[in-house]
Amino acid sequence: MQLIVIGGSGLLGSAVVEAAERRGWEVLAPTRDELDVTDETSISNYVPGASQYWIVNCAAYTAVDKAETDRDAAFLLNGVAPGFLGRAARESRARIIHMSTDFVFDGKASGRYREYDSTNPLGVYGESKLQGERALLLEACESIVVRTAWLFGAGGDCFPRKIIRSALQRKPLRVVSDQTGSPTYTSDLAAAVVQLADLGPDGGIYNIVNSGKATWHKLATASVAAAGIDVEIEPVSSEEFPTAATRPKNSVLDTSKYQSLGLSPLPEWTDAVRRFAEELRTKNLLEV
Ligand SMILES: NC(=O)c1ccc[n+]([C@@H]2O[C@H](COP(=O)([O-])OP(=O)(O)OC[C@H]3O[C@@H](n4cnc5c(N)ncnc54)[C@H](OP(=O)(O)O)[C@@H]3O)[C@@H](O)[C@H]2O)c1
Repeated sequence: MQLIVIGGSGLLGSAVVEAAERRGWEVLAPTRDELDVTDETSISNYVPGASQYWIVNCAAYTAVDKAETDRDAAFLLNGVAPGFLGRAARESRARIIHMSTDFVFDGKASGRYREYDSTNPLGVYGESKLQGERALLLEACESIVVRTAWLFGAGGDCFPRKIIRSALQRKPLRVVSDQTGSPTYTSDLAAAVVQLADLGPDGGIYNIVNSGKATWHKLATASVAAAGIDVEIEPVSSEEFPTAATRPKNSVLDTSKYQSLGLSPLPEWTDAVRRFAEELRTKNLLEV
């Protein structure tokens, strides 16, 4: 089986490349110069026309706060490009797994979000990602949209790694404690994405995150503990920590649809954070 990972240099994409290779797939991971998702000609020049394969799209505009003032770039990459990919897939024999986000929700629900719950993004990033989901499914309805959240992994910078770095530098740490979400380890998610490709379920939206839920403060505390650092982290409210983009207060995702495919739930996020710290240690990435 052949799999093309777009955005293979990124936090999640690099984990997907590793997971697919481990599973024995033939993996292609084009650079942005080789395949620019915002350019339809670049896509059609790269993707093979005849053979059967999967495209996993991890390319995105992920700077959530910057997107507020860089709307056009965010919408082109997150909102328009998935439609280009959908068209290319329809014209060949490819199927797409496209990554999306919990930030399509406004966070006003009290429980976990299901795939069919009403969306209402609070910022440009979420709006643009929602547009991308729709553009893709409109062009190629057999595509799979994976909504995930709060990613951490060794393949790039991420919140737990920044917190560990700041803790090692003995900087005072203040972290938001009134936003709750689903922290997710890229290695666990990547393995699930590859399993999904193996299975080839019906098209549509699937939530995939690690089990459990956490606030950013809980995630920060667990991250420094897993790295073996004894440090106090002050909990603060969102109001005390203003950002350009408003984040949902609750964006915990329900994964029962994914599990209904016969696939096991991903491990608890607390276990994932411990394995992540171990990975950083093994790769000598617990740097100051
Ligand atoms: N990070 C999170 O916490 C989080 C949470 C929920 C959902 N997600 C979703 O998960 C997916 C992966 O996120 P991530 O954090 O792994 O992203 P990332 O680390 O920011 O990586 C983005 C990737 O996109 C590539 N890229 C950018 N513009 C491109 C273009 N025009 N053509 C082709 N490739 C391009 C980048 O390549 P270069 O190396 O050339 O820049 C990079 O490989 C995204 O869809 C994101 O919305 C992420």
